[in-house]
Amino acid sequence: MISVIDAITTRKSVRSFTKKKVGLKTIKKIISLAAQSPSGTNTQPWNVHVLTGNNLKEFCRACKNEFLKNSEKLSLERLNYMKKYREPYISRRRKVGWDLYNILKIKKGDYTKTKNFHAQNYEFFGAPVGIIFSIEKDLGWMSWLDYGMFIQNICLVARNFGLHTCPQAAWGLVYKKANVLVKLKKNYTVHCGLAIGYENKKAEVNKLITERESIDTFCKFN
Ligand SMILES: Cc1cc2nc3c(=O)[nH]c(=O)nc-3n(C[C@H](O)[C@H](O)[C@H](O)COP(=O)(O)O)c2cc1C
Repeated sequence: MISVIDAITTRKSVRSFTKKKVGLKTIKKIISLAAQSPSGTNTQPWNVHVLTGNNLKEFCRACKNEFLKNSEKLSLERLNYMKKYREPYISRRRKVGWDLYNILKIKKGDYTKTKNFHAQNYEFFGAPVGIIFSIEKDLGWMSWLDYGMFIQNICLVARNFGLHTCPQAAWGLVYKKANVLVKLKKNYTVHCGLAIGYENKKAEVNKLITERESIDTFCKFN
């Protein structure tokens, strides 16, 4: 068993996976451990859709197609960070974007290569298991906070099994299509997804190292 600190320090977003399969037993174990996550008044707002095999392939085919065909028309409502990026967020966002594009050798303004790379989100970056998360539409901020803790738990517990993950807001761009494909009831909606599998250690894209601000920039001791 790995320590919590090792799980935290070795977790990273992986964007190229090997084809090696992950047993459903392992996935079930990860999700049930992640569900030990705290939630306000123990409301547990998560709903998880695990996709593998042909269902995964079909789901990805339809969603990737939707992205490639309609990306200009798709609503950004689920990818809602802020209307107009400002400092300090914009610099941090640019930094990770350019670091990633440098590794991928994608030049500024190369919209075709950029779009093709984004499209890989809709293949879960080649992961053998794709997870889609849905939530009841009328749940509020606090439930979203609970949900984040649950997803982070999945990312950390996965490390115990030698697995890597990539949380993906990108699925929120095609949520209307995804809602239908995972057969959601009317009051539910897809909001994001997560790729899970074994890291392709040969892939350049996985060499990305992201930085964090020092604690002095965001923490005050009074
Ligand atoms: C909620 C959430 C959504 C994300 N969505 C995407 C995504 O759609 N595609 C992607 O490639 N990475 C996505 N990421 C990964 C972030 O870019 C990544 O966590 C961040 O750059 C820090 O890097 P690290 O995870 O390797 O530490 C997402 C991360 C989070 C937490």
